[in-house]
Amino acid sequence: MSGPLLNIIIDVDVLPQFLYNTSSKGAQMIYPLAYSTWGKEELEAIQKVIDTDMYTMGKHVKQFESEFAKQFGSNHAVMVNSGSSANLLMLSLLKWKYKLTGDIIVPVVGWATTYFPIVQNGFKINFVDVDPNTWNIDVNKIEQAITPNTCAIMPVNLLGNSCDYRKIIDICTKHNLLLIEDNCESMGAKYNSLYTGTIGLAGSFSFFFSHHIQTMEGGMVLCSDKDDADYMRSMRAHGWVRDLPDDSPLYKKTGNAFNDNFIFATPGYNVRPLEMSGAIGSVQLTKWDDIMATRLANKNHFVSQFANKPWCRIQKEIGESSWFTFGIVLDGKLKGRREEVIDALSKAGIQNRPLASRNFLKQPVMRELDYIDNNNYEAADDIHDNGFFVGNGSKNIKKGIDKLYEVISSFVK
Ligand SMILES: Cc1ncc(COP(=O)(O)O)c(C=O)c1O
Repeated sequence: MSGPLLNIIIDVDVLPQFLYNTSSKGAQMIYPLAYSTWGKEELEAIQKVIDTDMYTMGKHVKQFESEFAKQFGSNHAVMVNSGSSANLLMLSLLKWKYKLTGDIIVPVVGWATTYFPIVQNGFKINFVDVDPNTWNIDVNKIEQAITPNTCAIMPVNLLGNSCDYRKIIDICTKHNLLLIEDNCESMGAKYNSLYTGTIGLAGSFSFFFSHHIQTMEGGMVLCSDKDDADYMRSMRAHGWVRDLPDDSPLYKKTGNAFNDNFIFATPGYNVRPLEMSGAIGSVQLTKWDDIMATRLANKNHFVSQFANKPWCRIQKEIGESSWFTFGIVLDGKLKGRREEVIDALSKAGIQNRPLASRNFLKQPVMRELDYIDNNNYEAADDIHDNGFFVGNGSKNIKKGIDKLYEVISSFVK
């Protein structure tokens, strides 16, 4: 395979800093937040698509969807241009296909585009605090937040960690609520034998640069029901029926392409992925086992260094986490000293970030949004004030983790 793209020299150590630099303050970067999983195979895959001169969603996207669904034991996969768009499709499915209205229960620590599609689809956000140890929705506070108008729960599997689905499913069954999962940070995580993102009616995934696999921009929805998948396929592309199978109940095709290709059956968007992204996704999946093995080896080192320290808490695993990043909440003698710690980390060349959305109720955009405030967000406030995360990725980062430990522990000597 040859082509102009292969002439680009990829330096996987430079790429993350270029794309993802936050606060290095001029220090030499020794431990970035994210690492590229690309090699020449991804460039070859892009070049192959370019050679066909067909760039818009087509057979490569379809192939990646079917490989992805198989990998995670789901019936259907619908690829989109981002994890945010995956969330948008799931919420629009609840509104338009399921005709739901009312409020949707979410954890108060998630991501901005966990919440926006809820409001954009006419629902109210119903915020629940997170658990102080798992940092996922506090399952013991869900029932008291349910209102007569609650129609669904949308947990977020935060930083690779599964939620406590046994309890969530029991609550959904008891109160007749639908379950959808924001799984954008947790590809590969498991609850019992099930992959997260396949437990509810639908689950979302992100393939953004820092995520487990990378199409750079890209996302997916998994679901088990064929009609739900058809509905989202239609909403993904203008609301038309062109990409649906002939037997879809949304529209019975006549065989007349002039007509069938311009039938609009759902109130859709255009959140299609590029064909290149599908081709890259298939290559990335062939690296999946290696990516996870390296991430979990890094995790073992991180946990061996930071577990059971009186001056910090790390995330308590439920099921099998896929360890998207390594979160730390400063505790004990270090509580209230995050600014100093972060400054020292940045000066040492260790990239860091606030822990996901922090307490989203404290974000200025909340002025604009319709929500239910259940008060008392003690765990989320602690994350807000004392939490941050550093990277994990498909590269041996044990030296970076050692440096991280050295810098933070120097504050308690
Ligand atoms: C929990 C969560 N939901 C949704 C998203 C959105 O994904 P994307 O960046 O692909 O739009 C992210 C992004 O990291 C996320 O962390």
